[in-house]
Amino acid sequence: MTTRLAALADWVDSVATLTKPDQIHWCDGSDAENQRLTEEMLASGVLSELDQATYPNCYLHLSDPSDVARVEHLTFVCTPERDDAGPNNHWMAPADAHAKIDALFDGAMRGRTLYVIPYCMGPIDSPYARLGVEITDSPYVVANMRIMTRMGQPALERIEREGSFVKGLHSTGDLDPEKRFIMHFPDELTIKSIGSGYGGNALLGKKCHALRIASYQAREEGWLAEHMLIVGIENPQGETSYVACAFPSACGKTNLAMLIPPESHPGWKIWTLGDDIAWLHLDDNGQLRAINPESGYFGVVPGTNAKTNKNAYDMIQSDTIFTNVATTADNQPWWEDKKEGEPATDWHGKPYVAANGPAAHPNSRFTVSATKNPSYSSLAEAPDGVPLSAIVFGGRRKELAPLVYEARDWRHGVLVGAGVASETTAAATGAVGVVRRDPMAMKPFCGYNFADYWAHWLSFADRSTKLPRVFHVNWFRQDENGKFLWPGFGDNLRVLRWIIDRCEQRVEANETPIGYLPKPEDIDTSGLNIREGALDALLSVNAEQWREEMTAVGEYLNSYGDRLPAALKEEHAKVTGALAKSA
Ligand code: GDP
Ligand code: PGA
Ligand code: MN
Ligand code: MN
Repeated sequence: MTTRLAALADWVDSVATLTKPDQIHWCDGSDAENQRLTEEMLASGVLSELDQATYPNCYLHLSDPSDVARVEHLTFVCTPERDDAGPNNHWMAPADAHAKIDALFDGAMRGRTLYVIPYCMGPIDSPYARLGVEITDSPYVVANMRIMTRMGQPALERIEREGSFVKGLHSTGDLDPEKRFIMHFPDELTIKSIGSGYGGNALLGKKCHALRIASYQAREEGWLAEHMLIVGIENPQGETSYVACAFPSACGKTNLAMLIPPESHPGWKIWTLGDDIAWLHLDDNGQLRAINPESGYFGVVPGTNAKTNKNAYDMIQSDTIFTNVATTADNQPWWEDKKEGEPATDWHGKPYVAANGPAAHPNSRFTVSATKNPSYSSLAEAPDGVPLSAIVFGGRRKELAPLVYEARDWRHGVLVGAGVASETTAAATGAVGVVRRDPMAMKPFCGYNFADYWAHWLSFADRSTKLPRVFHVNWFRQDENGKFLWPGFGDNLRVLRWIIDRCEQRVEANETPIGYLPKPEDIDTSGLNIREGALDALLSVNAEQWREEMTAVGEYLNSYGDRLPAALKEEHAKVTGALAKSA
């Protein structure tokens, strides 16, 4: 197999000349191909088999211990002008970046196979879908891309028809962290990544294409590429509302996207459309619609059990690639909070010793096809996507942020999104638990200057009068003993219900300086196991703390200088003004 598209054939040739692989393989995405690759990976030790009797078709991949998360300090956005990348990105001049990374690619695939992966982000027949080709020397990347994207022959056919595609070049290199770079050239529709085999650094369709490059294109073309789950919430009357939620990495997107309603909520049903990325377009009627560009889940494993996330737990019992989990004595995968079995071997492949830390890496992941999800929505493949009633921002905050609040309007909602902060997690290398600004949960993923991004968000108010309402949630408030105040998981449906009630104008709310908060009686607490006084604490706004927060938000926004949209400054002034007057 090769291609009749000259631009693609020439690019593959030039990459082969630079990287000098032993052979070239064009991926067709077939079962036979996948089987052969799996056998090769088992033989070379890239994968090992998990117990096939209890975990059929499940495999384990153990990364290099230095290569277990995204590396934001090595991720660059290389626009011709530094200011176009913004203070939110690391920047390098395109010519310097190409020179630096091409030197590392020189001969990088010697002794290896160069795989060409044509892929489609989004349903293959969707007008909103986008095309890409990843070249990689990692069969593990091929196997993951096969689950996470529509990969192979149909994608290649559409690429040949349309002629344009994002070029992604990846090599695991020698995994030396000193020679690891993830570089983006948005105006060249090009990605180059070397030295890492980890998901977000190596599966280029995901963060690199569907967020960084796509966000840049989306701004030019009038849409949005966002770090959001998409979920449908069906009430007992059979009406379904769709909501998209942006939470930072490892802050609950996958769990919320496939939530199982609590027993107190018979007749309610959750439908998953996406768990990590949403592409949002205004349709001809001014309705914002969402598609999920991905076709699988690359989810956090620790914490997944039959109680917290039964859908995820069930779907990873077969046909799953596990990365950096532990194993039991009978070779089943094991992770912290699995609530079943005992670890025998840790994620380094060494005998488990409790004193060495967690058995599974905190950012260990499962890769599994979305079609295995028991709550997979029948509209997940709809070419036009689903209409959104609400957009929800959120973060991981021990204190301050209430369980839920609603922005006054779209403009205020953009401020709420721009002000998102969250405690850092194991999804990126670096310290964990430090509060940092993560606007729209896009800090690691926005492919251009945040100031321009906020202006782009604000501009939607000029284009539609039917925009979704905007909310903020926090599942992670703690009491004075460090225990979560809110049980989370399935019980988050209670908060989604309030959000939909607001969208349908069924309930009033309490107006506060930061936005609208629920009247406590409007949150359904039937069957809810929650401490006395917890709901009041969760729905309180501490004016003193919020004044400090808004000062910090203001300083952060001002660091974007003259490019910061005036409307955002005005919204900020409105909130600080209201807070100054409140007790
Ligand atoms: P994602 O990376 O944003 O998709 O986040 P996940 O859904 O994978 O969750 C990340 C971690 O947060 C996992 O360990 C979950 O068990 C935990 N988590 C998810 N939702 C909740 C929640 O509602 N409450 C609490 N306390 N933890 C949660
Ligand atoms: P997550 O996706 O949001 O599910 O953690 C991976 C990531 O953002 O690195
Ligand atoms: Mn993510
Ligand atoms: Mn996730």
